[in-house]
Amino acid sequence: MGRSHRQSYGGGEMSVAASLVFYFLVFLAEILMFGLLSLVLFWVVYYRGGFKWREDPAREFNFHPVLMVAGFIFFMGHAMLVYRLFRCCNKLTAKLLHTFLYLLAVPCIVVGVITVFDSHNLRVPPIPNLYSLHSWLGLVTVGLFALQVTHTLVVGFFSFWLLLCCEQGTASFRSGLVPVHATFGIITFMLAIATCVTGYTEKAFFVMSNGLYAQLPDEAWVVNAQAACLAGLAILMGFLLYSSRYARASHPVAIVDPPSNSHYVMTQKTYYYRDQM
Ligand code: HEM
Repeated sequence: MGRSHRQSYGGGEMSVAASLVFYFLVFLAEILMFGLLSLVLFWVVYYRGGFKWREDPAREFNFHPVLMVAGFIFFMGHAMLVYRLFRCCNKLTAKLLHTFLYLLAVPCIVVGVITVFDSHNLRVPPIPNLYSLHSWLGLVTVGLFALQVTHTLVVGFFSFWLLLCCEQGTASFRSGLVPVHATFGIITFMLAIATCVTGYTEKAFFVMSNGLYAQLPDEAWVVNAQAACLAGLAILMGFLLYSSRYARASHPVAIVDPPSNSHYVMTQKTYYYRDQM
């Protein structure tokens, strides 16, 4: 049995009203995530000239916002929602889907970072790197994401070897890391939102210079709408992921009767849950 702890029976079960609220909020979050991804694609294709590779660094830049939104917001957001959405099915299925979505985020983020550095370094004359508030925030966000991925790989590697000699050891090892992993995930997601908002602000002032932005042309609406989606996601995802009422139900792995010879008054059975990463 894994690291066991006591909870009141029924933890994670939701009433009908709570379920309705939960699925409504998830539906809103989905609209915002799909809406944001569509808007950023529309923006760079319609207003910013679409995509080109290294032969045109200005247009190579356009990969950056699209891939960063895809990796940090769309795939990472879905990866984090998996544990809340797949409430009743096998935990292994949820774990595999969570890992798969995280793995989809990795190439988006790597290529997204390469293209923005290219778009600076390949210009004539080159644009200096890492001077802006946005780029510093971006480095912290990417650093946290890299830590999260490395830590998961290292934990997975050690768990595999530990599993060969003692299952008890690997279960307690992993379950101890669950809160750290989950908290870092939410922090990285929120930082990514802040980074994206600063990126949009900066780009809006670059491309709608000389006071054009203040006149709120159509492009400004498209850019601001993306920032509004991000603000909505910060609120919704924060609520969905932080509230323990929406957490997955833990299934009891052992139910123990109170000892008959106990001189303590025990009115309830004790339920032991397996709680692992
Ligand atoms: C979490 C998502 C994002 C991360 C981690 C990130 C990271 C970075 C980094 C590290 C740089 C510096 C590149 C260099 O100095 O050569 C940069 C530049 C830039 N990014 Fe982002 N970015 C993100 C999202 C966005 C978004 C959504 C936009 C919207 C247009 C954007 C716009 C820009 C712009 C205009 C630059 C060039 C100016 C500058 O260096 O600040 N970024 N980004």
